[in-house]
Amino acid sequence: MAFYEKDVGTLIDEAKLQARIREMGAEITRDYQGKELTLVCVLKGSTFFAMDLARSIDLPLTLEFLGVSSYQGGTETTGEVRITTDVSKPMAGKHLLVIEDIIDTGLTMGFLLENLRARHPASVKVASLLEKPSRARTKVDIDYKGFVIDDVFVVGYGLDYAEKYRNVPFIGVMKGK
Ligand code: PRP
Ligand code: MN
Ligand code: MG
Repeated sequence: MAFYEKDVGTLIDEAKLQARIREMGAEITRDYQGKELTLVCVLKGSTFFAMDLARSIDLPLTLEFLGVSSYQGGTETTGEVRITTDVSKPMAGKHLLVIEDIIDTGLTMGFLLENLRARHPASVKVASLLEKPSRARTKVDIDYKGFVIDDVFVVGYGLDYAEKYRNVPFIGVMKGK
């Protein structure tokens, strides 16, 4: 029995996740033909999704990592988004695709887009595996969206509860939360 089975139920299983990610990768491949693409992976939650998506994109690309945190391990956003790790190169003139695991209140992505746009990239688009529209506090346009989910606290495939459960291999829900 896996370490998480007592606490975590399945919301989106591995097969469904991987099939959708392949479709998203194919769409991104078509849209960025002839362009130099930079994936901006948002630490820590997006890492599992970003690495699978990157492998599904049939184009040369560059990886950057940007760390932000606002949940501080809890289930409610603190509303204060902080950069914990910055990207390694100037973003000016680049075609940026920001990769997120989830857009919930939208505060993190709103902050990120404002921050990245101020660096004068050639373009900025957003890919998010999950969207939880019921909790949106600011409007974010998602260019590539994996799944729309209800207002449940999700873990796994990068998403944490108090920094744990990120390595659960599917999107799960905390039992009794
Ligand atoms: C989570 C998630 C998104 C953000 C979405 O990150 O990974 O980045 O919150 O929530 P929002 O739309 O309400 O802002 P978190 O701050 O928990 O950091 P983590 O990725 O390191 O877990
Ligand atoms: Mn995150
Ligand atoms: Mg988190």
